[in-house]
Amino acid sequence: MKVLSVMNMIMKRSIFLGIPFLFMLNLMIVPTLFAQNKSIVRMGATDTQSFDENWLFSRYGLQSDGSRKEEPKNLESENYNDTAWQKLDLPHDWAITGPFRSDLTGETGKLPWKGIGWYRKHFTIPATDAGKQIFVDFDGAMAYAKIWLNGKYVGTWPYGYNSFRMDLTPFIKPGQKNIIAVRLDTESWDSRWYPGGGIYRHVWLVKTNPVHVGHWGTYITTPKITAKSATVQLAVTVDNATKKNVTAKVRTVLFELDKNNTPKSKAAATKESVLELKAGASAVLESQATIANPKRWDIKSPNRYVAQTTISMNGKVVDTYNTPFGIRTIEFSATKGFLLNGQKVEIKGTCNHHDLGALGAAINTSGLKRQLKMLQDMGCNSLRTSHNVPAPELLELADQMGFLVWDEAFDTWKVGKKKNDYNKIFDEWHKKDLNAMVHRDRNHPSVFIWSIGNEVPDQQNVALTKQLADIVRKEDPTRPVSNGYNDPDGGRGSGAAQAMDVMGVNYFFSKQAQWDADPRYTNMPTLGSETASTVSSRGEYFFGKEYENWQISSYDTAHPGWGCTPDEQFRTNAKFPNMLGEYVWTGFDYLGEPTPYNSDETNLLNFRSDPSKIAELEKKLEELRKSNPPSRSSYFGIIDLAGFPKDRFYSYQSKWRPELPVAHIFPHWNWKERIGLVTPVHVYTSGDEAELFLNGKSLGRKVKTPGIDFRLIWNDVVYTPGELKVVCYKNGKEWATDMVKTTGKAAQLNASADRSVITDDGSDLSFITIKVTDKDGLMIPRSNSLIKFSIEGAGEIVATDNGDATSFVPFQSHERQAYNGMALVIVKAKKGQKGQFKVKAESEGLSTSFVTIKIK
Ligand code: GAL
Repeated sequence: MKVLSVMNMIMKRSIFLGIPFLFMLNLMIVPTLFAQNKSIVRMGATDTQSFDENWLFSRYGLQSDGSRKEEPKNLESENYNDTAWQKLDLPHDWAITGPFRSDLTGETGKLPWKGIGWYRKHFTIPATDAGKQIFVDFDGAMAYAKIWLNGKYVGTWPYGYNSFRMDLTPFIKPGQKNIIAVRLDTESWDSRWYPGGGIYRHVWLVKTNPVHVGHWGTYITTPKITAKSATVQLAVTVDNATKKNVTAKVRTVLFELDKNNTPKSKAAATKESVLELKAGASAVLESQATIANPKRWDIKSPNRYVAQTTISMNGKVVDTYNTPFGIRTIEFSATKGFLLNGQKVEIKGTCNHHDLGALGAAINTSGLKRQLKMLQDMGCNSLRTSHNVPAPELLELADQMGFLVWDEAFDTWKVGKKKNDYNKIFDEWHKKDLNAMVHRDRNHPSVFIWSIGNEVPDQQNVALTKQLADIVRKEDPTRPVSNGYNDPDGGRGSGAAQAMDVMGVNYFFSKQAQWDADPRYTNMPTLGSETASTVSSRGEYFFGKEYENWQISSYDTAHPGWGCTPDEQFRTNAKFPNMLGEYVWTGFDYLGEPTPYNSDETNLLNFRSDPSKIAELEKKLEELRKSNPPSRSSYFGIIDLAGFPKDRFYSYQSKWRPELPVAHIFPHWNWKERIGLVTPVHVYTSGDEAELFLNGKSLGRKVKTPGIDFRLIWNDVVYTPGELKVVCYKNGKEWATDMVKTTGKAAQLNASADRSVITDDGSDLSFITIKVTDKDGLMIPRSNSLIKFSIEGAGEIVATDNGDATSFVPFQSHERQAYNGMALVIVKAKKGQKGQFKVKAESEGLSTSFVTIKIK
């Protein structure tokens, strides 16, 4: 790939890349390829069908109650009697039904995810498929997947976060019954967070002719972009699965994609090229096309194109393959920062784990989209996929919605953090896993940085760092390689970080000025790859302390020893104006890792060069082990596990969207036990000045010191019930106001849906928020009323939650207490049913609330 090596030379330090990407399907040929959500389309062959339905499941080894069930032999066999197995559709996370168990560790969510899971699916393909290549593409299966077809072993992919393809062709029986069997093993896997268990992402059946575009077989770059034209460079890998040498013709047509992911007008086409393919061999064909007046992909206007590649033999089209892509330039510089299409963009990012709260690890596009919309509303423009390769849907949504993505491969290399980490398979698999990540994801315009790791214990290893970075660069020289370092010296002292294009700093900025002055790193663009780690529980406020009853005060002052408040991080960032930006740990609360109530000793790794801090933390961990906290999910989220914003949301919104009039006052104003007591009041605002009023009386005006203050604080407010109001100003003009009011008694429930029209595909969801309010509709901030949920009509309850990190109520329960005034019920339409359904929320002594959801 000549063009790529030229681009390689352009890389180093100041990386200027025109990259594109996108994809799409050929609506003209096969119109309905994607069952889950037709508006999500991906790179691949046009004959790609959902393979999610009608699986059978049985669990062996460790069971959810901690007992063991022996795994019988021959579960892969064609004749095995699986009639008693559980019927289900994918994606499936076998552990999210719990139960939560206090004897299990908080670090993985107190959920029983360890076990051996078997899946079987009986299916037929038409006799007319004889002679075709038949593949099954797994987007992800946790973990150590082994696959058999009709009793014959097909292959394995141990790493649970990667996507992989299995070639069924040798054993498939067209026109007859086939049985695919999948064995998964999470007993051999350890994790620092909740990984889930099972085939938790989508699965696809792909059919092609023997001469076809290979798996992830297109690579599109845009080496030259001007306002007038963009050169689109395509490298197409064509596989010849026949036993004969063949001649194939390859041509790619580029279409603009509209907002509904539908190809619009033709934008350009390559010339038809002739490719001679040896029997059983693959070859790469490079070609170019020029798009006039290209529409750039940008975070504000995520325009995309789709490349439709066809392969013809003897005048007949034998394969069609779609690759969505975008046209944009990225440039990273130690002096100019990060430039997208020539414009400076500050990275306002969040790290996120892969679980979707009450839905567990099972991917759900509407659940993910809800999260991304909230993050975007906060001003977040970038996602770090901590600490693994994401579901394809995340990148598809990022492309469509305009997020930049730090795409991450590993949490460990050769040295594990836990006993059974990736280190066990590193030697055999790291190259295959890195290649899989890059080949799958390199056509997404959203992906702008590759990360080879997070806080790996061997981050000082010079040779290994270079080896991994080079594997990635060989497959995609158009994006920088980075790594999240958490040792103030690590990586840089040894020189390992010299292999990076972008330096990723997790938390430890104390020596940043020293490293910036070090000639080895002076010109290296730097990013806060992990920042803040503030911890809080939504709606909890403590006075004179930060922790109580396994909850954490929402005054946003608490953080573990390695972390800091958002405010402190903003001040640190300001010291390094050329830093590209930051990724806050984390956007959402997630299952597992309930720091500071997390007794996981890998926390010690955060202080690898500070023995006194290690000793202090070791003592705390010992105490935690003895007290066995009930906490099963994190407190790090800016947004809680149920998707309800904590106060911190408005800190980031104020900073990241300075043009938006934001005022947010806290705590709530229902403190009957605090009458006459000093009750500090904090305000986040995008203004620069604010005046506070209690029952109409001014409590004074406060002014932010620019670059120093990121909230305004009235520390001496004496609590009196009533109305607390803040009026914020910007440049001397009134800008935004907010108010909290002492409420009356709880009188009613108030339910509202994020989406009142959903589809009947069985996975589209509506998230309904229930607030306990007084008769005037004011939320009762400390209410914990028990709420019962039910449905009339063609809908079902999928899960409930309230964001309480210590609740052991199963997510599938139809009853749940409000946590600090709020609860969530997630509903879907019954598959294939039309009409509407009514969701009812009731609680004793309160008036009932209904929401109607229409099915389209
Ligand atoms: C970091 C680590 C994250 C998470 C976080 C909690 O050191 O990379 O995965 O553990 O700490 O603050």
